[in-house]
Amino acid sequence: MSQLVDTYGRVHRDLRVSLTDRCSLRCTYCMPADFADWMPGPSLLSTAELMLVLEVAVELGITGVRLTGGEPLLRADVVDVVRHITSLKQAPEVSVTTNGLRLTQLAARLHDAGLTRVNVSLDTLDRQRFLELTKRDRFDDVISGIKAAQAAGLAPVKVNSVLMRGVNDHEAVDLLRRAIDEGWRLRFIEQMPLDAGGTWDRGQMITADDIHAMLGEVFTLTPVEGRGSAPAEEFYVNGGPETVGIIASVTKPFCAACDRLRLTADGQLRNCLFARDELDLRQVLRDETLTPDEVRAEVERRLHKVVGDKLPGHGINDPLFIQPARPMSAIGG
Ligand code: 5AD
Ligand code: SF4
Repeated sequence: MSQLVDTYGRVHRDLRVSLTDRCSLRCTYCMPADFADWMPGPSLLSTAELMLVLEVAVELGITGVRLTGGEPLLRADVVDVVRHITSLKQAPEVSVTTNGLRLTQLAARLHDAGLTRVNVSLDTLDRQRFLELTKRDRFDDVISGIKAAQAAGLAPVKVNSVLMRGVNDHEAVDLLRRAIDEGWRLRFIEQMPLDAGGTWDRGQMITADDIHAMLGEVFTLTPVEGRGSAPAEEFYVNGGPETVGIIASVTKPFCAACDRLRLTADGQLRNCLFARDELDLRQVLRDETLTPDEVRAEVERRLHKVVGDKLPGHGINDPLFIQPARPMSAIGG
């Protein structure tokens, strides 16, 4: 079958699959504290439906699957999902982006099921600030979760931090010190306009240059060459071997090297985090007038279609930029 190549020549190899829009935290940049607009249960793809999509996607050249949410580890059968994916012919590499809270229970089982990597989100080392940022008093659970992942062989654990002006931006250096002490691979991500509250402000955001300057006061940073399609610019810290990543999604977009596609928990394909349109797969998967072969053929056609419709970039910096209708928690990181 033919590969997923868009009109700009970008070959798509990475599929981000959101397993649920639910989350055990309420990070301010992702969903409002009183968010209640959850996807109704029947609209979520079943594991069998999901696996059909993944089988087709792998045949079309997808080599990496990242499970996201909301919080993907809240899906009751997440270990089975991982095992199913890693048992596919031409199995892709499976990773997960998580808030870490359930890793103490699940890390070993996920590793046994074939998971290779975890990214844990952590924006502060201060318990009180964690509570303010996420509306839940669960800082210690994240730290235990990261330790559990390391103990289960999921090392090196990547830790994602979003810095916000006047909130946690003074923690950049401490986060990196802690990461080096604990063996985390830290990456700072510029805050993107995806919050359900719509409060993002380009003028207020902490940029990659700000982060580089803050870290540069304490550490020497030397660029690591050879980035490929990876969004993070990596730097050796004090000559290495430790590194830190800075993901300049807003100020230095990496759209030209993007190889990603997204599937929401309710079965919609998106060609970008910031896409205005989605393409429905759920309706195809549930169309009883189609034979199984026809369903697969239509899933394949729609995967090609969504890739074919991909724009060259996300347009965040365009004055006419419009934020996507759904918050990050519903799109999937
Ligand atoms: N901007 C940048 N990163 C975000 N994340 C969630 N919302 C945003 C946003 N608006 C991060 C989370 C997680 C990853 C999936 O994306 O912290 O680490
Ligand atoms: Fe949950 Fe992740 Fe959103 Fe935080 S960023 S509320 S952990 S989905």
